[in-house]
Amino acid sequence: MRDPAVEIRDAEEGEIGLLARLWYDSWQDAHATIVPVELPKLRTVERLEERLAAMLPSVRVVNLSGEPAGLCAIKDDELYLLYLSAKARGSGVAAALLADAETRLSQGGVAVAWLACAVGNDRAARFYEKCGWHRVGTEFKQLDTPNGTFPLEVWRYEKRLS
Ligand SMILES: CC(C)(COP(=O)(O)OP(=O)(O)OC[C@H]1O[C@@H](n2cnc3c(N)ncnc32)[C@H](O)[C@@H]1OP(=O)(O)O)[C@@H](O)C(=O)NCCC(=O)NCCS
Repeated sequence: MRDPAVEIRDAEEGEIGLLARLWYDSWQDAHATIVPVELPKLRTVERLEERLAAMLPSVRVVNLSGEPAGLCAIKDDELYLLYLSAKARGSGVAAALLADAETRLSQGGVAVAWLACAVGNDRAARFYEKCGWHRVGTEFKQLDTPNGTFPLEVWRYEKRLS
């Protein structure tokens, strides 16, 4: 049974700024040292706010003891983003947020979901593998930045949803 202090819910318009900051900090933690040097400078809080506003209906938030501790979004058949605050990592809430996303993908008719994980993001890779995702290859993903798209080498993971 899930910890009653953990609540997973839809994101709200009034918290876009807070969630963009959480996404930004978490992205920088995981990627600043493993991606090409120009990419972290292109990841601004303002751009993440715009992107969150555009995808708000697909964004879910995990609250830990009443505070937003992570966010997750799906896009078509993709687990599009999953980011936890530093203090929430290792607590088990990531698995709960991922399970929530897998349920939404499956309910939307997706049989095989996929996600992109930056090459070298070993903690995330380990997490996905322990949650039943399989690395199927390495490819380039076109990331959205204020200067247009940026090709990033990623591990592609897939999972068959039952
Ligand atoms: C990815 C993320 C959501 C996973 O959540 P989490 O709470 O950290 O996951 P867990 O602690 O349950 O699992 C992480 C696993 O990686 C292991 N790990 C930690 N650091 C590691 C490293 N440097 N290399 C390899 N494995 C590592 C942990 O020991 C754990 O494995 P174990 O349970 O077998 O011991 C979270 O770490 C996060 O938000 N990271 C920053 C943003 C990010 O990378 N998002 C994903 C983008 S694709």
